[in-house]
Amino acid sequence: MYHEKLEKFPQNFLWGAASAAYQIEGGWNSDGKGPSIWDQFTKIPGKTFQGTNGDIAVDHYNRYKEDVKLMADMGLKAYRFSLAWSRILPDGSGEINEKGLAFYENLINELIKHNIEPVLTLYHWDIPQALQDRYNGWESRQVIDDFDNYARILFKRFKDKVKYWVSFNEQNVFTALGYRWEAHPPNLSDVKKMFEANHIINLANAKAINSFHELVPDGLIGPSFGYGPMYSFNCEPENVLATLNGEEFQNHWWLDVYVNGKYPKATFKQLVKLGVAPTVEEGDLQLLQSAKPDFLGVNYYHGGTVRANEIEFPSGDNDAGLEKSFEATDPYLMKPKEEQAQTPEKRMFSNVSNPFLEKTKWGWEIDPVGIRIALRRLQNRYDLPMMITENGLGAFDDLTNERTIEDDYRIEYLRGHIIEIQKAITDGVDLIGYCAWSFTDLLSWLNGYQKRYGFVYIDRDEKDEKALERIPKKSYFWYKSVIATNGQNL
Ligand code: NOJ
Repeated sequence: MYHEKLEKFPQNFLWGAASAAYQIEGGWNSDGKGPSIWDQFTKIPGKTFQGTNGDIAVDHYNRYKEDVKLMADMGLKAYRFSLAWSRILPDGSGEINEKGLAFYENLINELIKHNIEPVLTLYHWDIPQALQDRYNGWESRQVIDDFDNYARILFKRFKDKVKYWVSFNEQNVFTALGYRWEAHPPNLSDVKKMFEANHIINLANAKAINSFHELVPDGLIGPSFGYGPMYSFNCEPENVLATLNGEEFQNHWWLDVYVNGKYPKATFKQLVKLGVAPTVEEGDLQLLQSAKPDFLGVNYYHGGTVRANEIEFPSGDNDAGLEKSFEATDPYLMKPKEEQAQTPEKRMFSNVSNPFLEKTKWGWEIDPVGIRIALRRLQNRYDLPMMITENGLGAFDDLTNERTIEDDYRIEYLRGHIIEIQKAITDGVDLIGYCAWSFTDLLSWLNGYQKRYGFVYIDRDEKDEKALERIPKKSYFWYKSVIATNGQNL
């Protein structure tokens, strides 16, 4: 906008791609792995598209070498992946499953051998089923020590090999979908429990970050937050105020705690009024304040547009996108109107559709400028280095007769976002890397394998469920050249 010339990407910028254990590994019960809540949930009829699950996923567990070879050929500088807690501690705590640890050690060694920086996520939504059964998982404070124990095992084992660590992936998303909208496990619809679980996860996050700073003093750790900047519907002051509420309720509610160990006041008061505020015990705030992350991971897909709540609900575009998608972004729109009116945010703001933005076939807004706005706002408020830990386009891809995938739409999407992050860097934002979502196609939690994000196509042959041939898409070769030129060939 106001820059005549964009600055170059920093010399050691981490051009990466990302994934998550349940979405790619398969091997759901291999080599002593225990079940996670996702292994159980996806078997409940009607919960996922055509009953799809991650039992085999894209069989990364058996093919990680082939996948890392593809990453190396692409020139990838960083690869973000998560570990399945129940592969390492099948029972959630207690006995360590050495074979599970060995799998990740081999993967990490393979990455390092090819000069790819591992970015390790501790938790990407798959708590061991054993802990869910024992004490309802994130609802009990017992999980804080169990999570810390799990994290410490990994810190000790991989501290010399892994520099970048992500603690929790999209806490805002997995708690909303799991505790409020009955869309993800543990499949509940309980606002109070959602806020209680969030507080406990905040404590678990803080405790593990403190352990990290003790055990891995040279490493960097931070949460990956699903951040969407909020826009005001227009400049009417009531709408601007509602936008402030929206930004606080949907974003700062988590981020202020991660970075400053404090809950934002207006939202907290609102939750107290409604009787759904979390129980903050003595010592909690001290723990939260003692554990500052070293960087913020930002998962950016789109923001949101807000107006003052007239208890009048949007219809049209938003709903159309949701009908098609199991992976609803705005699940409250699926609830009866009377129930929506009871929700805490309904008293503070309404989400509406943005008339200036187009949507993907899955109903997600496409907003590259939003990534720059996101980075600028987060830099100003939190003043930490940042890494884009996810950004990408979910689409239906076609395999041509020549067995190629001409995904120009994905290139256009990614290019648009990368140009905006370069502008953000020129603005002065401290960005250390960009991990596109995702490296290979993978399981889209509720939408099966039809919604694809990867640079590498996975051919799912119905007759041979383990064939799973890897085919680099056009976007793979495009990103390869982006990396080779450090962002000059966009
Ligand atoms: C964010 C989540 O972290 C990831 O697991 C998911 O597949 C993508 N969003 C796309 O929906």
